[in-house]
Amino acid sequence: MINIAIDGPAAAGKSTIAKRVATNLGYKYLDTGAMYRAITLFFHENSDTDLNKLAELIDIEFSQEGKLFLNDKDVTDKIRESHITKNVSQVASLREVREFLVDLQRKIASKKGYVLDGRDIGSVVLPDAELKVFMTASPEVRAKRRLIEEHSRGNMIELSTLIDEIIERDTSDMTRDISPLIQADDAVLVSTDELSIDEVTNEIVELANKKVIGE
Ligand code: DC
Repeated sequence: MINIAIDGPAAAGKSTIAKRVATNLGYKYLDTGAMYRAITLFFHENSDTDLNKLAELIDIEFSQEGKLFLNDKDVTDKIRESHITKNVSQVASLREVREFLVDLQRKIASKKGYVLDGRDIGSVVLPDAELKVFMTASPEVRAKRRLIEEHSRGNMIELSTLIDEIIERDTSDMTRDISPLIQADDAVLVSTDELSIDEVTNEIVELANKKVIGE
């Protein structure tokens, strides 16, 4: 078994594709963005957190069904609320937060057979990952996908607001000092603007199978 790193900007389709690739290959899926969201929620609820004690204060676990537990509490839905989405980039730029989560992600993935999605998996978390994919789509396409998600949750937000939010989050993720969002040199670039979910999934599964055969 190998590890597969899928990086790229917000709403490029990473989590949908990563989950399908994992199911297809019989691998496990690790949503690293959800982990940054969980810490953002923790800070929201505990405003005087000592950044040097994250490992003692915070326990993050995923259930078999993909639910996220923060200190034994199911926060799967809470971490998707818009105030978390607005603040997560800032939290993700803190050195102590990144060190804590990168360490945890490496421990989890050391067993192999993981599909991880995030921003810095191929560049920082697993620079030796056997397969690295950098997934992109235009801000407009990504905002339209987010719009469908938000409207299905009853949040009747405007498309133009979502485009602005996506561009703002991209800029913040790409320009932060520590582990900015970048395409690793050896990552395969996949643009999802014109491809269906199945087409992208199949492309990555094929790449993965070639790597496994070549091991
Ligand atoms: O993929 P997402 O929207 O759930 O990610 C939430 C935020 O976390 C996003 O603004 C970037 C940050 N993030 C990161 O810095 N590194 C990762 N490996 C994953 C996410």
